[in-house]
Amino acid sequence: MQHDTAFQMAASNIRFGAGITGEVGMDLVDMGLRRVMLVIDPALVALPTGKTVIASLDDNGIDYELFDRVRVEPTDASFQDAAQFATAGNFDAFVAVGGGSTIDTAKAANLYSSHPADFLEYVNAPIGRGRPVPGPCKPLIAIPTTAGTGSETTGVAIFDFVEHHAKTGIAHRFLKPTLGIVDPENTRTLPAAVAAAAGLDVLCHAMESYTAIPYTARPKPARPIERPAYQGNNPISDLWSMRALEMCRESLLQAVAHPEDDHARGQMILASALAGIGFGNAGVHLPHGMSYPVAGMVREFMPAGYVTDHPIVPHGMSVILNAPAVVRFTASACPERHLQVAAALGADINDVDERDAGDILADTIIDYMQKLNMPSGLAAVGYTDADIPALVQGTLPQHRVTKLAPKPAGEKELASLFADSLEIW
Ligand SMILES: NC(=O)c1ccc[n+]([C@@H]2O[C@H](COP(=O)([O-])OP(=O)(O)OC[C@H]3O[C@@H](n4cnc5c(N)ncnc54)[C@H](O)[C@@H]3O)[C@@H](O)[C@H]2O)c1
Repeated sequence: MQHDTAFQMAASNIRFGAGITGEVGMDLVDMGLRRVMLVIDPALVALPTGKTVIASLDDNGIDYELFDRVRVEPTDASFQDAAQFATAGNFDAFVAVGGGSTIDTAKAANLYSSHPADFLEYVNAPIGRGRPVPGPCKPLIAIPTTAGTGSETTGVAIFDFVEHHAKTGIAHRFLKPTLGIVDPENTRTLPAAVAAAAGLDVLCHAMESYTAIPYTARPKPARPIERPAYQGNNPISDLWSMRALEMCRESLLQAVAHPEDDHARGQMILASALAGIGFGNAGVHLPHGMSYPVAGMVREFMPAGYVTDHPIVPHGMSVILNAPAVVRFTASACPERHLQVAAALGADINDVDERDAGDILADTIIDYMQKLNMPSGLAAVGYTDADIPALVQGTLPQHRVTKLAPKPAGEKELASLFADSLEIW
């Protein structure tokens, strides 16, 4: 196999600042866009964020229709519901106001109304047919309200494929929002439990992209267009990932415990965008790959702080629960990178033995988990030993991310990683 020798940095268009949400109506006017589908998390419609957006659209004479049937942790059915609404509405642009669930729903609505196709056509192979998006979609302005998924920076839309009991997604650069309006004011109302799980998602995005295989370990594509967005760690994504990790150390615990701290909250929503640009160009690996069946096979777990009428393991929680076991397993492949992550998160790595890198990073992550009231393992969200074979089967098709792990993990390795994640402490 010939290895790749190049990496590419795809830019994201991000505006950051406190109080900028009210600019969205002017942005639409300046882009010549008049008829808009406003995709909004129902919990936000009556909160200051929703009111600010709606007032801005009204003040600027935008003709919009509000779609608030966003599902927390979307499914294939909820994506298609939004897509049908978009097709019927004949909109010329989309505005998404909410967390990853809302922004991803808007991306799907935009895609299927811009380029109609059977639902599985664009879904990642092998679950879907993985057909590349044939051309640009309509403009999408994303206004994140969690800190967070970084979805405002990525060309990815994730959903729970209900009949497969696992999450999967659609990934293409044409899904990337035209503009992300990143405003710290919008996370002021976040429940602490959501801020904690979403913040640990930021931490994992940065950690996984920093410890992913290097871009030079991937096969060289025949044509540049075939080079995936998730290309492995590279010198540019490292900058974004490392800074996001440091910002998690500086502000994550404070932003969750003290949402009135404007600086800490602002740093975390910025860290979310930074980590998004990092993983959007490098990729994530096993903690995310393993999280998809953890989320998709949920039975009864109803987390505190989430407004939902159905059981969910929230995304950030489903990822972090696998992370300690994964880093103990992957550290021997690149111990210095695992130690650099631990140090960025606050561990003292002076005079340590590289052979301890996995334990040092795992202990550092567990410390954050405990301080942020995460469950103590997969058992605490309803899983037992008997679920491990199905969790493994749900992870194996997630090639797009699992192939980026610095150490290959097949059925046997995944089974032992899930077993180690049942009770973390
Ligand atoms: N597209 C990507 O690149 C990407 C990356 C990571 C995760 N995801 C996906 O994003 C989804 C998770 O998104 P999320 O973690 O941002 O959470 P979310 O959008 O699911 O929202 C979580 C909860 O917080 C509430 N909420 C959101 N913002 C609020 C605010 N400001 N005030 C009060 N309540 C608020 C919501 O109503 C909901 O109950 C998952 O489906 C995940 O797979 C996507």
